[in-house]
Amino acid sequence: MSRFLFPRWSNALLPTIIIVGAIMPLYAVMFVAWGFSPKTLEVGYQPAQPVPYSHALHAGELGIDCRYCHNTVERSSHAAVPPTQTCMNCHFSIRKSSPNLTKVWDSYETGMPIEWVRVNKIGDYAYFSHEAHVNRGVGCVSCHGRVDKMEKVYQAEPLSMGWCLDCHRDPVRNIRPIDKIADLGWNQQAEMTVDQQMALIRQYDIHPSENCSTCHR
Ligand code: HEC
Ligand code: HEC
Ligand code: HEC
Ligand code: HEC
Ligand code: HEC
Repeated sequence: MSRFLFPRWSNALLPTIIIVGAIMPLYAVMFVAWGFSPKTLEVGYQPAQPVPYSHALHAGELGIDCRYCHNTVERSSHAAVPPTQTCMNCHFSIRKSSPNLTKVWDSYETGMPIEWVRVNKIGDYAYFSHEAHVNRGVGCVSCHGRVDKMEKVYQAEPLSMGWCLDCHRDPVRNIRPIDKIADLGWNQQAEMTVDQQMALIRQYDIHPSENCSTCHR
């Protein structure tokens, strides 16, 4: 019976089918995830947020350090978005009856987090780590632009594989002293020569990887 369903020549196909079958799912999953991820590669993507919180005011004018709120950025892959309590440290007393802070008070009283809308996102099939970058002298501004001038955050860079690899192949001009990673107005290309940056590359022992498994694990 099987001889009719699977003629002899099909035996030769079997190894090919097995090999293709073993490799395809990885690509299929990546491709599907990529195709259906609506936000991918959208420079300028700027979703509405539930509270009119402004980085231009808080990080720019008031000069609050990025790490006061995004306090895991140096020790974890993710940069935590602050809990309502962080806002209340000031807003218990500052402009406490402003209508723009109603949702912050609601969140504080109910214990339900504010539903901030995610801006920067890469596919789940790719791995990114904040600590691996900021502890090697890659500043927030290289990947997020001048957030300290944004009323409302938008995606500043493509976050595509080609974009990641461009820097991994040749990171020199993006390297700055580690104590300047959250200083967005400090421009390493204006402040440093290539030789000074090369010296940092050696000092920090920087050699970014281009292996697939670094970012697809
Ligand atoms: C007072 C707290 C606070 C400070 C200080 C602060 N942020 Fe934020 N940040 C937030 C909150 C809240 C959000 C989520 C709402 C939004 O996107 O505006 C956010 C969102 C972001 C996002 C977008 C996250 C995403 O979804 O992709 C980036 C990037 C960012 N901040 C970078 C910075 C940088 C860089 C600095 C320093 C120049 C900074 N932030 C300072 C509170 C803060
Ligand atoms: C080398 C590029 C790069 C640098 C440097 C960088 N980020 Fe990000 N950031 C990203 C990418 C890529 C994402 C999306 C990560 C994801 O989807 O997993 C992101 C996401 C975020 C988010 C959203 C939460 C999260 O972790 O996904 C915040 C907040 C953020 N970054 C803040 C910062 C701050 C503050 C700094 C500087 C102290 C910084 N980033 C430095 C590339 C970078
Ligand atoms: C270190 C103190 C500090 C922290 C922390 C802080 N803010 Fe503010 N915020 C201020 C100050 C100061 C103002 C400006 C008040 C003014 O204009 O008189 C302000 C203004 C605002 C306004 C505008 C209020 C209005 O009436 O228009 C909003 C909205 C706001 N903050 C939201 C937040 C949110 C959300 C967080 C937490 C992610 C936060 N703030 C954290 C100090 C802070
Ligand atoms: C430095 C990190 C990095 C390295 C190294 C890397 N990738 Fe990627 N890759 C990414 C990111 C980021 C994306 C896009 C995620 C998104 O669009 O949300 C991606 C996307 C992809 C996709 C989906 C389609 C596409 O082109 O966007 C495939 C397939 C892929 N990578 C395969 C590979 C293979 C094979 C290698 C090794 C030759 C590799 N990647 C090396 C970061 C990397
Ligand atoms: C502006 C430059 C720059 C950009 C953009 C960049 N990287 Fe990197 N990346 C680096 C540097 C520098 C290192 C540190 C290399 C070292 O420690 O030797 C690094 C390290 C890493 C590591 C840690 C590797 C390890 O060995 O642990 C991962 C994972 C990574 N990058 C993924 C990504 C992904 C994914 C993207 C894009 C979404 C990206 N990077 C974009 C410069 C960059």
